[in-house]
Amino acid sequence: MKILVINGPNLNMLGVREPDIYGKENYEDLCKKIYEEAERLSLEVSIFQSNFEGEIVSKIQEAYFDNVDGIIINPAAYTHTSIAILDALKAVAIPAVEVHISDVNEREDFRKVSYAGMACEKHIIGHGTDGYLEALRYFLN
Ligand code: DQA
Repeated sequence: MKILVINGPNLNMLGVREPDIYGKENYEDLCKKIYEEAERLSLEVSIFQSNFEGEIVSKIQEAYFDNVDGIIINPAAYTHTSIAILDALKAVAIPAVEVHISDVNEREDFRKVSYAGMACEKHIIGHGTDGYLEALRYFLN
């Protein structure tokens, strides 16, 4: 089973960025953790991060032609603004799981709206970086 993990803007700054909200683990640590869990579960995983909305849209489209079976997406700030990412997820119709490290429902009101989430069948919110591992296990089941 082929899984694509997509991370949006500023997630490459994990460990540096607001550690009280996002934790002290850096982005490399997160990727390592995802690859290790994927190996344990015998899932084929690739990870993509971009600070650019259009690149994320293109990557979602590419997933269709690469026969990706599942998408795990943390669109970061684009969660709350991007209809383009929502439309791309709907266009490819690949089962998708939305992950947020922090509990977006307990923060500012603008974080309570998730456009991308409207195209996702599962939402894992506020479980820290372990949320990505839960999302991998979700696909296995
Ligand atoms: C985030 C939450 C978003 O509101 C924020 O813009 C991010 C990270 C999270 O994982 O908690 O960049 O998606």
